[in-house]
Amino acid sequence: MKVQGKGTKVVIIGTGFVGSSYAYALLNQEVVDELVLVDLNKEKAEGDAMDLNHGMPFGSPMKIWAGTYEDCKDADLVVITAGANQGPGETRLDLIEKNAKIFKSIVGSVMASGFDGIFIVATNPVDILSYATWKFSGLPMERVIGSGTILDTARFRFLLGQYFDVDSRNVHAYIMGEHGDTELPVWSHADIGGKPILTYVDEENHINMNELEKIFTNVRDAAYHIIERKGATYYGIAMGLVRLTKAILRNENSVLTISTLLKGQYGLDDVYIGVPAVVNRQGIREVLELNLHEDEQKKLHHSAGVLKRSNKARSQ
Ligand code: 2OP
Repeated sequence: MKVQGKGTKVVIIGTGFVGSSYAYALLNQEVVDELVLVDLNKEKAEGDAMDLNHGMPFGSPMKIWAGTYEDCKDADLVVITAGANQGPGETRLDLIEKNAKIFKSIVGSVMASGFDGIFIVATNPVDILSYATWKFSGLPMERVIGSGTILDTARFRFLLGQYFDVDSRNVHAYIMGEHGDTELPVWSHADIGGKPILTYVDEENHINMNELEKIFTNVRDAAYHIIERKGATYYGIAMGLVRLTKAILRNENSVLTISTLLKGQYGLDDVYIGVPAVVNRQGIREVLELNLHEDEQKKLHHSAGVLKRSNKARSQ
């Protein structure tokens, strides 16, 4: 890996809506020293680099350019956002065929540069493509991280914050499982400023599980609702990717719900899936193993089963 203190370099592969929104958020939040944009459509990457550079005088100095896979050589992070996204009514898993194919060539090209950093994968279906990236790259699993349920967890916290009328940063609650239709809310470990949400349900008549489950349904289906309205989602995930980038590059040891390879945790094996994990400069430091309720554990296993079957179908 690169020697620390040399300045941080991130390469984004794919400058569609997600990649370019992430680049914009990185510039705004002053996270990296060098940012390289790589896209099949070189002109799009060049246009984005020019546009972002023109914002620099309003932010702080950094280098941004449209590059090639060669630029991955000494990068700290390569973030893959390339690929087809869902059309209205399409599920994330429907994208496997299209996106797995391009991933083989993307990851191969990144590795051919001599890259020895950390991958973040954001393209859907993110759990399946993170697993594929880990396999294709040959890197240790702690250095291949999927964005997992980082955004679903943020959506959950936002909506719970609205419901309880508190700052979403004081809501502690996770969405685990597939970043997709089989994800689950972890009510057993959800709290508002330290007070368990299940205690609110016991104590206050107007707060009940029906209402809370409606919140979860809105979280799970949020992408469908946004895609129906504007064709794609990108600002939320871009902010989530910046949060993950900071946790890594600043060695924050932050707990984030990302997609990582399970090796026995939660009774699961050989599957990339969204779980809370401690993230730092090495990538994934450890998976947090929560003491889930029985029904949550069942839902997590169901979600993992769906991912494993999709993975198997992909690799056949
Ligand atoms: C999202 O959840 C589509 O996966 C994307 O916004």
